[in-house]
Amino acid sequence: MSPPEPPSALSIENLHVTYGRAVEALRGVSLDLPAGRIVAVLGANGAGKSTLLRAVSGTLGLHRGAVVRGAVRVGGQALTGDPARAVRAGVVQVPEGRRVFAGLTVEENLRAGELGRGRLGAASRRQARDRVLDLLPVLAERRRQKAGLMSGGEQQMLAIGRALMADPRVLLLDEPSLGLAPRMVRQIGVIVREINRQGTAVLLVEQNAAMALSIAHRASVLENGRVRLEGPAAELAAGDEVRRLYLGAAEESAAGESTAAGTAPAPAALTRWTA
Ligand SMILES: Nc1ncnc2c1ncn2[C@@H]1O[C@H](COP(=O)(O)OP(=O)(O)O)[C@@H](O)[C@H]1O
Ligand SMILES: [Mg+2]
Repeated sequence: MSPPEPPSALSIENLHVTYGRAVEALRGVSLDLPAGRIVAVLGANGAGKSTLLRAVSGTLGLHRGAVVRGAVRVGGQALTGDPARAVRAGVVQVPEGRRVFAGLTVEENLRAGELGRGRLGAASRRQARDRVLDLLPVLAERRRQKAGLMSGGEQQMLAIGRALMADPRVLLLDEPSLGLAPRMVRQIGVIVREINRQGTAVLLVEQNAAMALSIAHRASVLENGRVRLEGPAAELAAGDEVRRLYLGAAEESAAGESTAAGTAPAPAALTRWTA
């Protein structure tokens, strides 16, 4: 028998979201993120993955979207669509497309990540910072560099580092591998797994199913705003449906992308969780 799941860090219950009162982007999505786990959310473009993260981080309003039914709970408490409140509850999002402050230095970007988590005392802030620089040493090396001058992979690391400065209990990642070369995708996978090993629960949105399933404990596949499949990551990775729908496609696009990198192995070569 498998061991019981840890208590829920984040629970999404029957969530319905619309944009501009017209586009129904989520149609009754439920999902549980147990404390200390990685749950992947897979799906094609337009499936509703970013919408789901926006609903959790309270940023739907910035996109003219709204939760029309359902709830998001963190530690049993309902979140209300207020981004500041989500951050105070320990839920921090790394948005799609990284969005670092290009004109600011790495150091300034990291400091921006401390804002909004006012309850953190000096000792916790220092601890969060040490953790970030230890996990992402490139940020220490590039401390004074303008973020806009870094590579896509480095900017993704900075975006993740900035989020970690708020010492999240739940980290929301929106397609961290998007547009990165296979070697960098693998590196991001290793970093996300290490963040999780240190105790942070991760909701990982990805189109790269091979990478996501190689590091996640469980996964849900979204299609047209609904959960089409859900289960342990290893089972989904081995199942016909996900292979046919996503893994084939991901491997093909990774192969296309890797022409320059030549023989780089696919992200699926990341070692699997054994927990
Ligand atoms: N700001 C918006 N206004 C109107 N429709 C939107 C907006 N953002 C997303 N959508 C629509 O909602 C659906 C889900 O989009 P999204 O959550 O971005 O999907 P994914 O992240 O899986 O690619 C799509 O049909 C998309 O066109
Ligand atoms: Mg998206």
